[in-house]
Amino acid sequence: MKLAVVGGGSTYTPELVDGFARLRDELPLSEIVLIDPDERRLSLVSAMASRMLLRAGHPAKVSTATTIEDGAAGAQAVLLQLRVGGQAARNVDETLPLECGCVGQETTGAGGLAKALRTVPIVLDIAERVARVAPEAWIIDFTNPVGIVTRALLQAGHRAIGLCNVAIGFQRRFAANLGVTPDRISLGHVGLNHLTWERSVHLDGVDVLPGLLAEHGEKIADEVGLPPALIRRLGVVPSYYLRYFYEHDAVVAEQRSKPSRAAEVAAMEESLLAMYADPAVDTKPALLEKRGGAFYSESAVALIASLAGDRGDTQVVNLRNDGTLPFLADDAVIEVPARIGAGGAVALPVDPVEPLYAGLIAHVTAYESLALEAALRGGVDRVADALLAHPLIGQARLSADLAGRLVEANRGFLPWA
Ligand code: G6P
Ligand code: MN
Ligand code: MN
Repeated sequence: MKLAVVGGGSTYTPELVDGFARLRDELPLSEIVLIDPDERRLSLVSAMASRMLLRAGHPAKVSTATTIEDGAAGAQAVLLQLRVGGQAARNVDETLPLECGCVGQETTGAGGLAKALRTVPIVLDIAERVARVAPEAWIIDFTNPVGIVTRALLQAGHRAIGLCNVAIGFQRRFAANLGVTPDRISLGHVGLNHLTWERSVHLDGVDVLPGLLAEHGEKIADEVGLPPALIRRLGVVPSYYLRYFYEHDAVVAEQRSKPSRAAEVAAMEESLLAMYADPAVDTKPALLEKRGGAFYSESAVALIASLAGDRGDTQVVNLRNDGTLPFLADDAVIEVPARIGAGGAVALPVDPVEPLYAGLIAHVTAYESLALEAALRGGVDRVADALLAHPLIGQARLSADLAGRLVEANRGFLPWA
């Protein structure tokens, strides 16, 4: 099977390759093409990937391409993991909103909107090229903001599924807490990408979440950065992205007192690239575990294996709502457990969502639809509308001010500005 990775020059790629090597029985890959416009990174990362596969005795061959047409032709799956503007643009997403008293984050709030504006047109262009040279391919989108990008892809008629590592991370951590293998755990995961709650944790069919919270509540709360009392009272586990909502002001104060995540990651990337340049390095560096993308290789392997092999198992993915959450429009993109087979992903039924979560989900969905409008059609007023609809912004003067600043700072990336 041939797999193409767009953004293959990313320092994250060895995380992916490590998963391919470990899980080779699940996913029989014969060819991996790394596609990236940055030739320096491409040569360092592809050499590293080849060494890793050689060491693991994996038969797949790694090649590189600088265009979609050259790299994706004939691929069965195309993974999108690109970052328009790199860490420098991310740094603006994380720092500019702070100047206005709002959280600075690359997927949540104003920063996430800026990232969507830069990313949606590029991803749509890539998907059209993929559809021409590999019409049967599944497009698996890791590119953030995953909810909005997946919605853009589906709306344009592409065979796309959005993926994130938050759910698989919870599954792995809960399994470790319980001392069982992850395959015995299934999550009652509900919401939108980066806006989710675990409402149940089933071990062999029995909901063990209450016991898990009683025994490991402090640790779980610490991992998601929320007060243990809140989690105990709610009886659910919010993802750590809910911290940007439930602890907004505290996060703003904290972010103002330290360097941005983009700056941290840029420094890590330099060290990683230096390791990839060393011909003696042929295993995944431990430093990669300090990145937020842990386990993303496992979720990618599982998804591609189930699409290709029609396995019919359950995985958490981003897909069209189509009535699963009855309080949202059909074309909203939600993140829930779904059955995965050759025909794609079909959401499993979801228990009625409590107002405490449904309200925020509906609110952010409205923002996402306006964000996509702004990304597709442009205009500073559409950007301001999206911000006005966002629960973390929501004020008129603030929205207008932020909209102007975001457009100005991202002008070089916006076809319409
Ligand atoms: C998690 C999220 C990803 C995000 C990443 C950031 O993995 O699920 O959507 O891209 O964190 O990690 P970083 O190391 O770049 O901060
Ligand atoms: Mn994610
Ligand atoms: Mn329950």
